[in-house]
Amino acid sequence: MTIQILIPVMLITVLFEPVYANETKSSRWYNQLQVDKGRFIYEKNCLVCHGIKAQGITEDWKQTLEDGSYPPPPLNGSAHAWHHPLKMLIHTINNGGAPIGGKMPAFKEKLNLKEKLAVIAYFQNFWDVEKYNAWLRRGGLDF
Ligand code: HEC
Repeated sequence: MTIQILIPVMLITVLFEPVYANETKSSRWYNQLQVDKGRFIYEKNCLVCHGIKAQGITEDWKQTLEDGSYPPPPLNGSAHAWHHPLKMLIHTINNGGAPIGGKMPAFKEKLNLKEKLAVIAYFQNFWDVEKYNAWLRRGGLDF
């Protein structure tokens, strides 16, 4: 490909990429209201363990702590949460880490379903298009 062709092609890619990303984000299962509400819930209930931007609070979330338990993983799409459909994410929020010998508290009685969905929307909003689409392909909307 000659440079005369290459430059316009690169320009098109650069110009249209953000538009494409926005379009895809606005077609997600949640809306901005849920993200805003979820942020409030997240900051009150989850931030202390999962980090201010859901990035986690330890360098390596796969490295067990001294007592053998796992640290809170990032929820921003860089760890494992995108492997789990909505059903599983709600299950984890409901029951916490107790069923797997972990330390996360249970929120079954503390948050209602709308609040749980909003908080998921909040941390999913950190996921890039690629992660979100991979989650969809794995049956993410399974509820
Ligand atoms: C006291 C610390 C703590 C708090 C508070 C906390 N978590 Fe967690 N969370 C953890 C830990 C630790 C794990 C890993 C499982 C375990 O060991 O319990 C985890 C795991 C998870 C997972 C599974 C992630 C994956 O990759 O599979 C999700 C989802 C999650 N937390 C969401 C939340 C949400 C949403 C809130 C707030 C409503 C919250 N957590 C509050 C500590 C916490």
